[in-house]
Amino acid sequence: MSKDAEKSTWKDFIWNPRTREFCGRTASSWGLILLFYLVFYIFLAGMFCLTMYVMLQTLDDHKPTWQDRLGTPGMMIRPEGEAMEIIYNTHNTESWDMYAKSLDVFLSPYNDSEQAVKNENCLENQYFVQADSGDVKNNPKRSCQFNRTTLGICSGLEDRTYGYQAAQPCVILKLNRVIGMLPGTGNEAPFVTCGAKKEDSEKMGPLVYFPPNGTFNLMYYPYYGKKAQVNYSQPLVALKFLNITRNEDVNIECRIISSSIPPGSERDKFAGKVSFKLRINTVN
Ligand SMILES: *[C@@H]1O[C@H](CO)[C@@H](O)[C@H](O)[C@H]1NC(C)=O
Ligand SMILES: *[C@@H]1O[C@H](CO)[C@@H](O)[C@H](O)[C@H]1NC(C)=O
Ligand SMILES: *[C@@H]1O[C@H](CO)[C@@H](O)[C@H](O)[C@H]1NC(C)=O
Ligand SMILES: *[C@@H]1O[C@H](CO)[C@@H](O)[C@H](O)[C@H]1NC(C)=O
Ligand SMILES: *[C@@H]1O[C@H](CO)[C@@H](O)[C@H](O)[C@H]1NC(C)=O
Repeated sequence: MSKDAEKSTWKDFIWNPRTREFCGRTASSWGLILLFYLVFYIFLAGMFCLTMYVMLQTLDDHKPTWQDRLGTPGMMIRPEGEAMEIIYNTHNTESWDMYAKSLDVFLSPYNDSEQAVKNENCLENQYFVQADSGDVKNNPKRSCQFNRTTLGICSGLEDRTYGYQAAQPCVILKLNRVIGMLPGTGNEAPFVTCGAKKEDSEKMGPLVYFPPNGTFNLMYYPYYGKKAQVNYSQPLVALKFLNITRNEDVNIECRIISSSIPPGSERDKFAGKVSFKLRINTVN
């Protein structure tokens, strides 16, 4: 086939004036194909909307339909640090000031004045149950005050450095929210206990907890979810390291003690505990 002939077959394929075909099909053939796909996609979109609608009807606004890991919540630390490490030098203000600043931000909503406006002064040491009566939802639900002053010298109110400058840093723990969890052991509140990992056991030194004994008071439970309890303030436990070994890595592990929170299973090693590394350098 000559080059010219080849060119004209190509041209014919794109637009063939004899048969009035475009890309090998007549206008009505193209029209039918377009119509078919149009109807097909409208049908698919309709199916999708219908399925979504039915799914959404079955969801409760105030409670997740499925909830994983009920009973073994994870714990978090503040300040977060990078990769669960808090490392700074007491001589370098910049190296610890960011931790103090992030605690300031984190604790700001816990100011006593804020809590007094948002939340209720509940009866301590008992669950704050606000049941719905059948299908009638008792919403919105109130939440209990957690005053920043409860954290004592770790509140950042008297000591704006949270002990970082003096090499006695505070770390704040919170338990992740689990809707409906009743974490007490009978009438006893769950509490946090922290220790150094084996190889560092000599290095941790004494700790103090705020509130005393590191408890999460029962009045903060059960939690009913973000939509039902709009002003919920997660209870906190602060720990202050009083004489931690300086210039060395110290690996700390904190766990929640409560007979109704089972220890983390093999599958979920992080449930109910948190590990982090603390290193305070005091040499320039
Ligand atoms: C909470 O208190 C601290 C210290 O008094 C203050 O700097 C901060 O602005 C307060 N936050 C709010 C939200 O009132
Ligand atoms: C929080 O502080 C207020 C005063 O600002 C006090 O009346 C209230 O009892 C405190 N609540 C708790 C739970 O400590
Ligand atoms: C939440 O807090 C606001 C003030 O910030 C208050 O007016 C409101 O009543 C509170 N709502 C509930 C359900 O406690
Ligand atoms: C702390 O725990 C001890 C012993 O477990 C107990 O005697 C004490 O009353 C607790 N203190 C508080 C404030 O709960
Ligand atoms: C702090 O710990 C060191 C050992 O790591 C010890 O020699 C020192 O006496 C302790 N200081 C206080 C105030 O307990």
